[in-house]
Parts: sequence; structure tokens; C-alpha cells
Amino acid sequence: MKNILVTGGSGFIGANFVRYLLEDSGLRDKDYNRIVNIDLLTYAGNPENLDGVKEKFPGRYFFEQADICDAKAVDDIVIRHQIDTICHFAAESHVDRSIAEPDAFINTNIRGTFNLLEVFRKHQDTIELFHHVSTDEVYGSLGAKGYFTEQTPYDPSSPYSASKAASDHLVRAYHRTYGLPVTISNCSNNYGPYQFPEKLIPLIILNAFEEKTLPVYGKGINIRDWLYVTDHCRAIWMIMNHGKRGETYNIGGRCELKNIDVVKTVCNILDKMKPLTNGGLRQDLIRFVKDRPGHDLRYAIDCTKLENELGWKPVETFETGIKKTITWYLENPGWVNRVKTGEYQSWIDRQYDV
Ligand code: NAD
Ligand code: TYD
Repeated sequence: MKNILVTGGSGFIGANFVRYLLEDSGLRDKDYNRIVNIDLLTYAGNPENLDGVKEKFPGRYFFEQADICDAKAVDDIVIRHQIDTICHFAAESHVDRSIAEPDAFINTNIRGTFNLLEVFRKHQDTIELFHHVSTDEVYGSLGAKGYFTEQTPYDPSSPYSASKAASDHLVRAYHRTYGLPVTISNCSNNYGPYQFPEKLIPLIILNAFEEKTLPVYGKGINIRDWLYVTDHCRAIWMIMNHGKRGETYNIGGRCELKNIDVVKTVCNILDKMKPLTNGGLRQDLIRFVKDRPGHDLRYAIDCTKLENELGWKPVETFETGIKKTITWYLENPGWVNRVKTGEYQSWIDRQYDV
């Protein structure tokens, strides 16, 4: 793994992964030549997420603005940078947008992944690994009991999760049919720095900070299994290095929380860090709004395989991770303001008429 192509490296998890690889993974200078980030820079892609990286690692980090649906552009990048490893994050990633406007999800998540696999097939003599980053949402919804394992049948509910399921199937098919070396990971909900504030946690942090309404879908009883983003990045890197080719690994935080409890936790922490001038509580800003159609009730990951085979364990608890995350958003008002003056604000305005 000398020349690593990261797709979607300017998004939330991709940017954290590029930073993790270069700064924290223990990768030494002689272990690799270059990390190449290919990103279209959609509304969710932000070059600022990797500010300073090119300067800090001269000749080691390269950015290519391109669409993964453009097979010729991807092929050219793979040849030019002599890519031997691909880690694929690029996707349309927000469930609510997939319900409102599914088209881009089908294109990027299915067609884009197919294109990358075709380029991989063309260069199979030189490419040694394709790691596909996916979600636990492909498994559908759990009731009150049970966990998703790697054997759980796929049963996606939203256009987003259906498109990710299709991409997972394509990756597996290319392994079985053409013998291409692949690994797949299905991870639970991530949170941490650089997450675009359309997702629950950054949306609530920023709205609560600004004393705006906190929209909670339905009754707030839906459960997600939260994982700090760097723990996800470390798991991916472990799977790429030590995972069995052709295998799938579930990644999760063993950290199930009801949405309403996540929102209240953020409110309580912010009340301590930045008390409201009128002495009020941010919880009073919570509003229960119309539920998401097809809203999955509960996600919970069984990651025994990853723990037992590769020895992975998360470092952050929700308590430590959420404090780090809130602190990051408060300490980066420039990033927040630039993100908010663009697409984010117009999406939120359209959603809630605020
Ligand atoms: P994100 O929306 O923050 O970032 C996606 C990135 O992909 C952006 O930089 C965007 O510009 C880029 N992109 C989109 N379409 C593209 C295209 N056609 N060509 C090139 N680049 C394109 O998403 P994220 O939350 O960082 O998620 C990354 C991956 O992880 C996705 O595949 C997602 O399904 C998966 N995942 C996310 C979570 C989560 O909680 N966020 C959990 C599990 C898995
Ligand atoms: P989200 O961050 O969009 O992730 P996903 O849908 O992929 O799990 O949402 C997390 C949970 O929070 C989900 O159950 C929907 C809910 N939610 C709200 O209650 N209010 C909101 O404003 C958002 C964006 C999400």
C-alpha cells in the first residue's frame, strides 16, 4: 500500500481518515509514497477539512477534483499516481436528502462505485486492495432486541441505504466473479469534527449554541449506535492492513442511545460550557417535528468479529467523544460560518421554514 487513493477525502469521515493516516496511524515515511484524495466537492465536500495537510506533508498529499462517475477521469488519476490501493468513502450520505432527491444517490453511490470497480478490474495487476466504506443502515431496522451481525440479511429502508446496499453487493460480486481483493466495512453512526451540520449531532450542537429550535423527529425514541469518527478510521486502517480479503467487518461503538437522550446530553454540556444569559435551559428549545418516512427504529452493531480477529476496540466513550466534538465546533467558528452561509442554511430553511 504505497500509493493510496482515498475517494471522498474532503467529506467528514474521509477528511478525518486522511488526517489519521498522515498524522496518527503510525505510517512512516518509508511505508508509503502518496495519499491521493479524489473528491467532486459537492455541498458536503469542503477543502477546508484538509487545510494545512499539503503543506505539512509536502509531496505526500495530492488533491484531484473529479467525479467518481467519470470513468475516464478516475482511470487517468489511477495511472498518473500509480495507485495500488483504493479506500472508497465518496457517497451521497444524508438519508433525508435521499428521500427528497434520490437521483444523486443512485448515480454516485451505485454508478460511481461501479466505475471504480471497473477501473480496479482494468488495473488488477497493480491494484492490491479496494476497501469499501459502508453503513449498518443496509441491514434495515432492529426491534427492541438483537444486533446486526455480518450475516444479517440486507433490508434497506431509504434510497440512501438501498443505494449503499447495491454498492456493497457490487463490491462483493467483483470479488467473487473476478477474484479482486476487496474488504468491506459496515459502520454505525459517526460523530466528530468536520461533520456537515445536516446530521443530528452537529445540527443540534450549532442550533443549541445559537439558541435556535432543536428539531427531533417523531417522539425521539429512535436508537442509533454512536461511534467517534477516529475510532472508525482506525478500524478501517486495521481492516485494510489485516482483514481477510473478500470479508465484511461490522464496526460499532456498543453505544446505543435514543435520539432524545443525545439531544439532551448536548444541551446539558452546552449549558455548562456556555450558560444562557437568561439562566434558561437549552432543552426548552427541543421541538418534536414530523417523523421521517420509513424511519428505522433501532441500529445496533455486533462487532465481535472485528474485536476478536483484529483486536479493535474504540478508544472514545460517548462522554469523551461528545465533549471533544462540541469543543471542536465551538473552537472553529470560521469553519462553521463558512459552511452555514452556503448550502446548509438553505436546506435547513427549506426543511423547517425557520
Ligand atoms: P460526507 O457526505 O460528509 O462526504 C462525502 C464526500 O464525498 C464529500 O466530500 C463529497 O464531495 C464527496 N462526493 C460526493 N459525490 C461524489 C462524486 N460523485 N465524486 C467524487 N466525490 C464525491 O459523507 P461521510 O459522512 O463522510 O461518509 C463517508 C462514507 O462513509 C460514505 O460512503 C457513507 O455511506 C459512509 N458511512 C457514513 C457514516 C456516518 O455516520 N456519516 C456511517 C457509516 C458509513
Ligand atoms: P442522521 O444524523 O441523519 O443519521 P441517520 O439517519 O443516518 O441515522 O440522524 C440520526 C437520527 O436522528 C435519526 O434517527 C434521525 C434523527 N434526526 C432528528 O431527530 N432530527 C434531525 O434534525 C435530524 C437531522 C435527525
